[in-house]
Amino acid sequence: MNLFDVYPVNPINIVRGQGSLVFDNHDTEYLDMYGGHAVISIGHTHPHYVKRLENQLHQLGFYSNSIEIPIQKELAQKLGKVSGKEDYQLFLCNSGAEANENALKLASFYNGKKKVIAFTKAFHGRTSLAVAVTDNPKIVAPVNETDNVIFLPWADETALEQAFANNEISSVIIEGIQGVGGIQVAPSSFLQKIRSLCDQYNAVFIADSVQCGYGRTGKFFSQDFADVNADIYSMAKGMGNGFPVGGIIISPKIQPAYGMLGTTFGGNHLACAAGLAVLEVMEQDNLMQNAATIGEYLIKELKKLEQVKEVRGRGLMIGIELPEELSNVRKELLFKHHIFTGEAKPNVVRLLPALSLTKAHADRFLEAFVNVLNQ
Ligand SMILES: Cc1ncc(COP(=O)(O)O)c(C=O)c1O
Repeated sequence: MNLFDVYPVNPINIVRGQGSLVFDNHDTEYLDMYGGHAVISIGHTHPHYVKRLENQLHQLGFYSNSIEIPIQKELAQKLGKVSGKEDYQLFLCNSGAEANENALKLASFYNGKKKVIAFTKAFHGRTSLAVAVTDNPKIVAPVNETDNVIFLPWADETALEQAFANNEISSVIIEGIQGVGGIQVAPSSFLQKIRSLCDQYNAVFIADSVQCGYGRTGKFFSQDFADVNADIYSMAKGMGNGFPVGGIIISPKIQPAYGMLGTTFGGNHLACAAGLAVLEVMEQDNLMQNAATIGEYLIKELKKLEQVKEVRGRGLMIGIELPEELSNVRKELLFKHHIFTGEAKPNVVRLLPALSLTKAHADRFLEAFVNVLNQ
């Protein structure tokens, strides 16, 4: 059997990793400034993470949500504490798309309305509702098309007000920093406007924090910079440091009912062990502060480079927009300097490294980047 060939891959076989370094099958070392797409939050194979997962696996890998699972409650407690959203409620699932799917559905159960506001260049995942609120017609199949989604221009307060006027809006879904859209930071005033309109019209504010959340920006949720609380935050990627786990945290104003949401694998013992290990390491090693400090340093240094059109982002979620003629930079970084980075259109290098990235590794990246720009 062949694989269903949907991924354009680099001809590299990564077989092991440690911190921000990964190694291929020839033992060549690579610096990981991409984090496997923002997934590696505490670093590859962190010893505490490995030990916690190993211990859990020896005890029990999985049992379904039909029994008490104390480790889920432990994860919820810890997440409440680290995120500062202690009065929220946690529902666990397995991926970012699934988290958004549940968030949109829950919003509609809550207020009985159908229309969702999303924004240009948004990416929220590939399952049916998640892809319907994603602004990329190429990945929306005819079966996913719906009249329930209204796309508005990014950060346009007037358009937002007008869309709310007929009181049909169930929810607004927004990334605090657009990832796939090219690292666009949502202005604080726009997030505040969403909050006030959602309050006025009893709509639900969904903060897609799958990529920009979980401490990556230096605060737990990037929306925290705007001093607003969303009603639902969706999370995945960094939550399990590579173990597939996603979830939503839900404001106390939204009440649960048996059967309203559900999943077989979500919240399983192993996933919770991974989630707890991540939060424990984040706390012990002060990783949010590290993301803020190293991110600020990288952004400051990158802004000095005259070939760079624009540097955007916060903490360790950074977009470097380059002119069209420098379209080869990522390839050069990978094959000449052995550094993984991410991309976004049109010509944006995306940096999404582990939150534990050291200054020495940041400097190694900067040196290689300058070298590529100047060749
Ligand atoms: C902002 C955002 N939301 C949702 C998703 C979907 O997550 P997943 O691939 O885990 O379904 C992604 C994935 O890149 C994302 O960046």
